[in-house]
Amino acid sequence: MNDANILDIPPSYTAIKNQTAAIGFTMPSDLYVGTLLKTLATSKTGGRFLELGTGTGLSLAWLVNGMDEAARIISVDNNPEVLKIASQAFDNDERVTTVCADGEQWLSQYQGDMFDLIFADAWPGKYSVIEKTLNLLKIGGFYVIDDMQPQPNWPEGHQEKASRLIAYLEERDDLHLSKLNWSTGLIIVAKTNKESFSIKLRQK
Ligand SMILES: C[S@@+](CC[C@H](N)C(=O)[O-])C[C@H]1O[C@@H](n2cnc3c(N)ncnc32)[C@H](O)[C@@H]1O
Repeated sequence: MNDANILDIPPSYTAIKNQTAAIGFTMPSDLYVGTLLKTLATSKTGGRFLELGTGTGLSLAWLVNGMDEAARIISVDNNPEVLKIASQAFDNDERVTTVCADGEQWLSQYQGDMFDLIFADAWPGKYSVIEKTLNLLKIGGFYVIDDMQPQPNWPEGHQEKASRLIAYLEERDDLHLSKLNWSTGLIIVAKTNKESFSIKLRQK
């Protein structure tokens, strides 16, 4: 199997990639996670999706390409320069809402529907406000994170944060996880209908 043989690149992807290179955005997600997000999005017909950390919209292009007509996605980023590229790319797609906001603030204030899939690709939703984020995930929903293997741009001390995050996910008994040493190191989580570990701890 040649996993680099990726044949189903979304139509909007190349234009976004060119604009991404033009502004020198250095944190784009890779094609592997893109293919996975598309597959998972397709599995949730009429799904409600959340992306934290839109960037220029590369992973968003994959998610949107996997979504059906009834599905909807909200994608949040706090950097207007990069978000502008994503917003323009999906301007005519009523399924897509891009939001320029601090993810932590947005998550704290969000009162809408729960999500079938959350791709947490920014600090908030991953290294902060994780409990609120997972509370927004439906039972049977997917929570996906990448960059879990050491990356060249990790600041000192980040490995400990990544290890703590993995331990937190492993400790919750309402989650099933798969850790994939593929792409940049992915974790795919599915939420079960069990009570969460942290909720049980709070009630003691
Ligand atoms: C790894 S990049 C996202 C890459 C993108 N998903 C892609 O496919 O190329 C992380 C993004 O998170 C955004 N970000 C960082 N801190 C944030 C915050 N506090 N709230 C919202 N977005 C944030 C950055 O502006 C950046 O675009």
